[in-house]
Amino acid sequence: MRKEVVMITGANGEIGHGLINYLGENGNANILALDVAPLDESLRPYCIQSIQGDILDSVLLGRLVAEYEIRSIFHLASILSTKAEYNPETAHRVNVEGTLNLLRLAVEQAAWQGRPVKFIYPSSIAVYGIPTIDQKRKAGKVKENDWLQPITMYGINKLYCEHLGRYYTYHYRQLAADAPKNSVDFRCLRFPGLISAITIPTGGTSDYGPEMLHQAAQNKPYDCFVRQDSQLPFMVMSDAIKSLLMLEAAPADRLTQRVYNVTSFSPTAREIYDLILSAFPNAKIGFAPHASRQGIVDSWPGDIDDSAARRDWGWLPEYDLERSFQEILIPAVRQRYQ
Ligand code: SER
Repeated sequence: MRKEVVMITGANGEIGHGLINYLGENGNANILALDVAPLDESLRPYCIQSIQGDILDSVLLGRLVAEYEIRSIFHLASILSTKAEYNPETAHRVNVEGTLNLLRLAVEQAAWQGRPVKFIYPSSIAVYGIPTIDQKRKAGKVKENDWLQPITMYGINKLYCEHLGRYYTYHYRQLAADAPKNSVDFRCLRFPGLISAITIPTGGTSDYGPEMLHQAAQNKPYDCFVRQDSQLPFMVMSDAIKSLLMLEAAPADRLTQRVYNVTSFSPTAREIYDLILSAFPNAKIGFAPHASRQGIVDSWPGDIDDSAARRDWGWLPEYDLERSFQEILIPAVRQRYQ
């Protein structure tokens, strides 16, 4: 008998840490963790196996199909928006071909099991591309189908993978006489910038938020790479994990779409700065905008409309801006770096 597992790719990343910690402490899932880097020691007790490997390695994925009964896949592995611009072709391979490999794995698993495999996929506000700062200011809360003209390779990859997920769910091999039915159950969240107290992001463009916090808590100087008036939607990591698990658990007949915006608060960089300064009055944070990274932030919406998630599966963030910083982030980074 093959072991029934929940597979998590990108297990060592920020969302991976949050999800494995949460499931390890509150759930009873058998977690199969996959990451290109060795899994953090602290996460290992929560996983039945951790594999160091690449999602582009189809031999490795084939072996996993043979060994495990994979009930759900949280496909978190990805090269983020800033890093992807340094090598767009490699980012495309990892972000798109990697996702395709996992969707194929899901189809195969579903065929073996005779039931759909859930495929939970984090997309991003990077799928949006608003041409000018004036239009961004006027756009307000952006809905799922507006402004889908991304300017980064990462955003383009995420948008395309959303379409791939929909294709595998409804139209995969649609001309074949034996076209599989009910095989992949793709469910996707578009996340805003995420802020965690226990991990630091690498290679994203919303990183100025968490970077200001972690640098201030360590009393290290930091230059924020965007203007003070730059606005993006954000969410604290615990709410991101909550939304992933709520979407996974939602009854299929409640889903009216496959891709949902989720968000919590929309501060300017200055508002984040002020909250951090009130906790760490000696923090040495300056503002030194980097033209290209500023351009990316300016193309992303300042706020997104998550009313479809609220309506269909009861999404509601627990922590607003004030509570995220006062109750979670500041106490946790204080403890971490004291
Ligand atoms: N936080 C991500 C990034 O900045 C967006 O999904 O790349």
